[in-house]
Amino acid sequence: MMAKKIVVIPGDGIGKEITEAAVRVLKKVEEIHSIGLTYEEKPAGGTAYDMCGNPLPADTIEAAKAADAVLFGAVGGDKWDNVDPAKRPEKAVLGLRKALGLYVNLRPVHVSPVLADYSPLKPDIVTGTDVLIVRELIGGIYFGDRCESEIHNGVERAWDLENYSVPEVERISRFAFNAARKRRHKVTSVDKSNVLATSRLWRRTVIKEAEAFPDVELNHMYVDNCAMQLASHPTQFDVIVTSNLFGDILSDEAAVLGGSIGMMPSASIGELTSLFEPIHGSAPDIAGKGIANPCATILSAAMLLRYALNEDAAASTIEKAVDAALADGWRTPDLYKEGFRKANTETMTEEILKHIK
Ligand code: NAD
Ligand code: IPM
Ligand code: MN
Repeated sequence: MMAKKIVVIPGDGIGKEITEAAVRVLKKVEEIHSIGLTYEEKPAGGTAYDMCGNPLPADTIEAAKAADAVLFGAVGGDKWDNVDPAKRPEKAVLGLRKALGLYVNLRPVHVSPVLADYSPLKPDIVTGTDVLIVRELIGGIYFGDRCESEIHNGVERAWDLENYSVPEVERISRFAFNAARKRRHKVTSVDKSNVLATSRLWRRTVIKEAEAFPDVELNHMYVDNCAMQLASHPTQFDVIVTSNLFGDILSDEAAVLGGSIGMMPSASIGELTSLFEPIHGSAPDIAGKGIANPCATILSAAMLLRYALNEDAAASTIEKAVDAALADGWRTPDLYKEGFRKANTETMTEEILKHIK
């Protein structure tokens, strides 16, 4: 059997700590399920900028393109807040998504019963929440033309352009409808079509695409209402499909329903390869302290096994191990409450490893 190639990009801040934890878990699960993986580490983000003046070296892109899957930590930090916008660490995330053609970003929000009382929402509202956010990832305002500064009618202004083409909306909505077929057969398309032209094109394209999926129920919601509904009736949602910017914002909101952003994994899928990363950032406030919650990255590694390598059983082994460590009462500081067992990144990882057998 040919070993599958995983490129690991730790990035900045807590990125190194959490990807190390996830690789330890992958290595253990590999043994148990007889999967052959190789790991190659590549720099990106502020760390790469400091090394070579480029947050996304060509060599990192080439390695990622050639990989069976990429495991990504996080990039960014105050240290690089004032560098040239074209060289910001975040450009590494955006550049990789674009270079690898990762047009789908899956952000599952599953409120585990063990964590229901950590949610800022009352347990009777949040219990049973199981949403899959399908975020368009390489279009929209993130990748439109922009101007950092220009003088217009004697005053300084900046602008960012949002555009979406019909094929871009077709492929992401098709992905969402197919995903709904494996779940509860319901898609909510989120837009701002009461104001934006791009949203009107989005909505009519989704409606057209839905004709091929008569077994899937489709409804539409404005993004402002969706933000409210996620906080008031989150259990109504099955699959949410939305644009790049709206998906970014709604997924951070949805992440806290499960108790902590430190629990939320994601998968970015394209035609060439796929990339797996927690939805959180480099958490500069806790970087280097060894206390970051590794679960989001460990669960991203589970998604890697499921979506990139078709190793469903191995993915479930990881997911169950994370649940079991939580059920044993282990909590990193983002989730710690009196009466529970204190864990740092390392002990949380060890506890998860114990359940992989
Ligand atoms: P952040 O997600 O890094 O942190 C927000 C808050 O959540 C912080 O209080 C942090 O300590 C906490 N947190 C995040 N992950 C955690 C974990 N695993 N365990 C425990 N607590 C955790 O968001 P931010 O502060 O807005 O951004 C920090 C930097 O990260 C910025 O430079 C931003 O651009 C970047 N960022 C990168 C990515 C990425 O690489 N994909 C994603 C989001 C933000
Ligand atoms: C995310 C992040 C990125 C985004 C940033 C770091 C560019 O917030 O993955 O959610 O906005 O997509
Ligand atoms: Mn985000």
